[in-house]
Amino acid sequence: MSQLQDNRGTLFLLLLLFWLATSPDSNPGFIAGPALVKSRLARQREALGILNSTQWGDFAPRRAGNPPEAESKYLNLTGFREEDGYAWEDFQRFQNRCEEWSANAVGIPEASVPVWQNATGIIRGLWHRANTSSPRYHSSYNLSQISPGVTWSGYHSEWTRNATGTDGRMLVRIEDYEDGATEPEEVDKLVLEKAEIKAREVAATINVDDADGTGSSWEMRLHGVHWPRQGVMLFTTTSEKFAGIFGLPHLTTREDFFESSKALLNRTLDKALERKEKRTFDDQFDPWTSTLDAPGEAWSPSPHCEYLLYVQIYPLDQDILGVQPTLTGPENVAKAIQDIEDELRFPQGTGHRRIPQLQMSAVVYSPDCAFFLETKGPPAYAPEDGKHLIGVKQEVFLYSVSTFLLGLAFTIFGQLQLLKMQMRETSTPSTLCRVSFYTGCIMLLADGIIFTGSAAWSFSASTTLLPSLAITCVSLLSMTVTTFFLAEIHRAQEPEWRRQERERERQNAPTSTTPRHATSPNPPDTATRRSASPPIIIPSDQDVDAEIAENTNNETTGLPAPVTAGNPTANAQNLRTQLSNVFGRLLLIGIGVLFLSLAAASWRPRIRAAYFNTVLFVYLSLWVPQIYRNAYRNCRRALAWRFVAGQSALRLLPVAYFYAVPGNFAFAEPDRAALAALAAWLWLQTCTLAAQAVLGPRFGVPRGWMPDAWEYHPVLREDNVEAGGLPIGLVAAAAPGSPTAASAPPELERDDGGGGSGSKKPLLAPQQRTSTHVIDCAICREVLEVPVIRAGAEDPAAGGVTGVLARRAYMVTPCRHIFHSACLEGWMRFRLQCPICREELPPL
Ligand SMILES: *[C@@H]1O[C@H](CO)[C@@H](O)[C@H](O)[C@H]1NC(C)=O
Ligand SMILES: *[C@@H]1O[C@H](CO)[C@@H](O)[C@H](O)[C@H]1NC(C)=O
Ligand SMILES: *[C@@H]1O[C@H](CO)[C@@H](O)[C@H](O)[C@H]1NC(C)=O
Ligand SMILES: *[C@@H]1O[C@H](CO)[C@@H](O)[C@H](O)[C@H]1NC(C)=O
Ligand SMILES: *[C@@H]1O[C@H](CO)[C@@H](O)[C@H](O)[C@H]1NC(C)=O
Ligand SMILES: [Zn+2]
Ligand SMILES: [Zn+2]
Repeated sequence: MSQLQDNRGTLFLLLLLFWLATSPDSNPGFIAGPALVKSRLARQREALGILNSTQWGDFAPRRAGNPPEAESKYLNLTGFREEDGYAWEDFQRFQNRCEEWSANAVGIPEASVPVWQNATGIIRGLWHRANTSSPRYHSSYNLSQISPGVTWSGYHSEWTRNATGTDGRMLVRIEDYEDGATEPEEVDKLVLEKAEIKAREVAATINVDDADGTGSSWEMRLHGVHWPRQGVMLFTTTSEKFAGIFGLPHLTTREDFFESSKALLNRTLDKALERKEKRTFDDQFDPWTSTLDAPGEAWSPSPHCEYLLYVQIYPLDQDILGVQPTLTGPENVAKAIQDIEDELRFPQGTGHRRIPQLQMSAVVYSPDCAFFLETKGPPAYAPEDGKHLIGVKQEVFLYSVSTFLLGLAFTIFGQLQLLKMQMRETSTPSTLCRVSFYTGCIMLLADGIIFTGSAAWSFSASTTLLPSLAITCVSLLSMTVTTFFLAEIHRAQEPEWRRQERERERQNAPTSTTPRHATSPNPPDTATRRSASPPIIIPSDQDVDAEIAENTNNETTGLPAPVTAGNPTANAQNLRTQLSNVFGRLLLIGIGVLFLSLAAASWRPRIRAAYFNTVLFVYLSLWVPQIYRNAYRNCRRALAWRFVAGQSALRLLPVAYFYAVPGNFAFAEPDRAALAALAAWLWLQTCTLAAQAVLGPRFGVPRGWMPDAWEYHPVLREDNVEAGGLPIGLVAAAAPGSPTAASAPPELERDDGGGGSGSKKPLLAPQQRTSTHVIDCAICREVLEVPVIRAGAEDPAAGGVTGVLARRAYMVTPCRHIFHSACLEGWMRFRLQCPICREELPPL
């Protein structure tokens, strides 16, 4: 019962975590309180009024180098006032920079080259930091004066998002949606077309990576305006200490930008505020906040640097665009771009043309932390050093995600096929015994993580829904089959585990068994023992070791073996609870890894890389448990070659995508060295498995590290009569010793009758150390040639690999019968009995 409850608890935990991970941004709710929200809305309403009442040129802050008495104009908006002390003296420089970069990209404003009209996409690139004319520190500002009535948390500490390194990276995701508001408000689809849209609302999520400076990266959401004809976008952050979006028109570089954005924002901000004012109780979310999922921001914001982001879209590559040279007028280029965009959004199957890249340049200006970030690219930098921000349109990005997901689905399907093949091959208890349970566990864990990830992804996916559903299904199938296989393995290996546990107990408490031995059998003692010790099951594969251990145990204690084989339901129940324990643990590990990985996405790049490398290293160590088990069980080969090679390749493939493909959709930096290390490690394990099959499972393992096991491929010697006997029928007088002959049960000595009366033809080769004896294999009735070390010859340990390989050809059973290796191995897949005398055989 407690097991059942345990599992229920795990399931509940899983559901809770899943819900937490997939639920949308929780709004601050009751925490903030309507009063706070109301005062914030009042401030924003006031700011909108100021925007409505100001004109182009009303914001002209004093320039750097100008005397204080020179004429300057400020706005009565938070952050735009003179007394706020922001670094506006560099504002003119920002505007000049923006104009300069636009000119570099598309030429002068009067005759600019057409660019993409829809900027929705993902771009990334390098930035270089530049200082403003005078520095600012967090102590330069009096936050209670800038934003009266706001409680700041971390008032006296350094602000976040403060880029301090000289170089870094940034990733920009632009959301330029059709249903966003436009200016003019109504575009007559028939008459005016999209080309008449002057300005459109736009939002962007930017991720700035400052590895050289603060060593961290931060993500923020910016809101702004897109002027599609010019290919210009201007974004700002908005917070309690900076009324960014309300002052945005004043931050533009041209008067027509000012007019269109002012008209657009006047309308959209008014609508948004109206909506919020009606719902101060249940919708307290600030629509222009720049922090993603931080509910605490609403009532106690922490100060961070404010950003202005100016983006210029670059013209398309003329070669790819493929407009006739005679027709390169702006209208024709614009038409060609329109065609590509239409085809991308609503594929008609017209031709398979290459899609040009999305390229943009960006200037970031922080008016309070006082720095510029400029993307690296021509003309200031050589194209090799950076091409500003390069990326792909949303549709192309989603296409590559879908392709990857489909590829992953096929990979998992391939793994599933291999697994099914392997299961057909290992269908008997004795072959199941060879397979490592933990190797299977690692595979199950990986499949489970992929399943959970793809299921969660399917919830929010729209375009990639089908491929992610395919992955969900295939990985679920794979999980089910792996679970079934693991259950089979577990059932086959369970007796062995019990034996090990008992042995450990016996070693740990040697004194407790002695008194029991002394006070011999009495009924109550037997009863307590029965209930205390776990039930022992007669192994289904007739595991000899188990029985020997059992017998010795009985002899020493003098008690009847508490065998519960007669109670199959109890066994099944016990097995099931044990197995569900194992799976419960796997589930917890999987959840832990999943959440740690999600958290790792925001760690410092170096720590993050180390984390993912470690996780992948552990994952790709999946053959290690199998290697150990082979050595432990003295079993040469448990898994089919196709399975090992196929699984290694298929499990490395998705990893290789992220580690080797430069344009991968996760924007992971290619790390070929790490990939090579991982592949080499996997290769090493595969080679070890191969070597175990060829050279013996314990090559290179010092004797004594592993428990003794029957050596099926002993060195046969003609002398060494005392140590045992040559296999029956091989020789009459001489008796060789096998290295582990001492471990054979003593009763083997007497067994001289039975079959195996093969013809004995010792073909002596005097010049060699070994002579070849010939015998008939009782299974296939073919001739079996056995090399035997001649009497007096030195030890063949120096014989090396060839000697080892020669010994691989035959197998000697503990009952001293000899067979072809292939014949006996084939036999032992089904029965662990000697085919001649029906003696039990130790498993391979
Ligand atoms: C902006 O000002 C005009 C008059 O100057 C007024 O008619 C309009 O309602 C105002 N709009 C907003 C959103 O305040
Ligand atoms: C700025 O606005 C505040 C209130 O919002 C007002 O008290 C103050 O007088 C204004 N300052 C100027 C210079 O107009
Ligand atoms: C930004 O970082 C610089 C350099 O570490 C520091 O001097 C400055 O005070 C920081 N600015 C803020 C606003 O925290
Ligand atoms: C900050 O401003 C508040 C109110 O304007 C004032 O009371 C306080 O003394 C100022 N603090 C500093 C350090 O100037
Ligand atoms: C731009 O493309 C995206 C992706 O196809 C689409 O969702 C969006 O509505 C488009 N925006 C405009 C303004 O056409
Ligand atoms: Zn044979
Ligand atoms: Zn035999």
